[in-house]
Amino acid sequence: MDKPKSMVMVIIGASGDLTRRKLMPALYLLHKYKRLPEHFAILGLSRTEFTDEGYRERIRAQLLRYVKPEELDEEQIHSFIRLLYYFSMDPADPDAYLLLQPKLLELDKIIGNCEHYLYYLATPPSLYGLIPQHLKKVGLNLDKGIKGKKRIIVEKPFGYDLDTALELSNIYYKDAFREDQIFRIDHYLGKETVQNILALRFANSIFEPVWNRNYIDYVEITAVENTGIEQRGGYFDEAGTLRDMVQNHLIQLVAITAMEPPMAFNANSFRDEVFRVYQSLTPLTEKDMPENIIRGQYTASEKKNGYREEKDVNPLSRTETFVAMKLGISNWRWGGVPFYIRTGKQMPTKVSEIIVHFKPTPYPLFNCAGQTCPMANKLIIRIQPNEGIVLKFGMKVPGKEFEVEQVSMDFSYSSLGKLFIEDAYARLIEDCILGDPTLFTRSDAVEASWKFFTPVLNFWKEHPEIPVYGYPAGTWGPRESDEMISKQGACWTNPCKNLTNTNLYCEL
Ligand code: BG6
Repeated sequence: MDKPKSMVMVIIGASGDLTRRKLMPALYLLHKYKRLPEHFAILGLSRTEFTDEGYRERIRAQLLRYVKPEELDEEQIHSFIRLLYYFSMDPADPDAYLLLQPKLLELDKIIGNCEHYLYYLATPPSLYGLIPQHLKKVGLNLDKGIKGKKRIIVEKPFGYDLDTALELSNIYYKDAFREDQIFRIDHYLGKETVQNILALRFANSIFEPVWNRNYIDYVEITAVENTGIEQRGGYFDEAGTLRDMVQNHLIQLVAITAMEPPMAFNANSFRDEVFRVYQSLTPLTEKDMPENIIRGQYTASEKKNGYREEKDVNPLSRTETFVAMKLGISNWRWGGVPFYIRTGKQMPTKVSEIIVHFKPTPYPLFNCAGQTCPMANKLIIRIQPNEGIVLKFGMKVPGKEFEVEQVSMDFSYSSLGKLFIEDAYARLIEDCILGDPTLFTRSDAVEASWKFFTPVLNFWKEHPEIPVYGYPAGTWGPRESDEMISKQGACWTNPCKNLTNTNLYCEL
């Protein structure tokens, strides 16, 4: 795909958390590595008043904070912030868009004959429906009107449940934009290590024969963080973990682990297979939900605030900051194999990983060395940090006795040398600039995912007696989550608090 020669990127929500922490650092990296169009400008847009210069200085300060020190370069920062312009307007006000059009024409003159416009919605989700309609009213949506191709990137969650997602879909691809202009971003798919799961599964022939119900006992997916909700109380208290992490990031990881090989590696084939996994998720019944879904909320501990003490959070909030659940996939490959997923804020460490637990041998032929004897094979795919893959297998302990212990075969990304592990946002923004939608979520997948999760949200709403279990900040979540999984004969693997390459787990 050819890189366009010229582009204006409009970031709506330019003074927010996402822009500060993720978008600007990603755009800076793309600039540094010369991956942006030759003629490029960024128009930051939000309600706060700034001059262009004031905004540039603000972003400079934020880059120093959020870009990895080894990537900082004074000259590059200087040339990057010269690409920034600012326009103060209320994105919810339809009349303000009348002034946006002349502003874009001004930028068109500065960069010279702009071929593409890219809108990035980094606003609260409550504005996702309004903005495309307002853009449409002033002709800034289609390729006609102000000339140049238009694309739009929308953050998750796309909708609050199935109905609102369908309403948004109607606005986006049936009214304001065409499906090929819409890029629904899920930054987990931009992670190098998540894409590598596809290579692991489909560029090797040894995994495919065992990647099914005959050999796999269960799959465990963990994506936890050791921070709270930081400055995002307003958004998070409305959204909760199910919408913030599970309905998108975690279910993407399930799909990538469970999908069939696509016919080809292109946008349609890949997204068809993701969609099929979502369609095959075994619907959760109200009878099963209390047993198979545990939600929790962090409470105060030592130096950490409880969730209800966080800024902009309702002091009586029942919003979940932790979810653990058991999912099933009803197809021939996965029938009967549980997928246990969990995610939470304020856990002991930050880690995302997938563990494929293989079935044990039909009977134990050898004695175990030591007390604990985890003899079944495991394939651990570490997404972050200490990116790598570990295969656990049994080996004879040298000596006269015939005892077996579990050892690791270990691949670490760091062993590849100084390889730039790409920033997920940088990768996805670049894909969008190139017009490649492969790693963006298609509307049918968003809807299928909501179809699966909306009954859970409804069930929680209709049954306030279903507990939100407390867990002290800095722990591995409510004990009910351990009970849920242990009742099924499995257990969560808790990575060490201080992760190192050689010591990934406290105990195995
Ligand atoms: C975002 C969520 O999508 O992902 C955040 O909104 C979460 O709440 C973040 O902290 C986690 O992303 P990562 O890449 O740090 O695992």
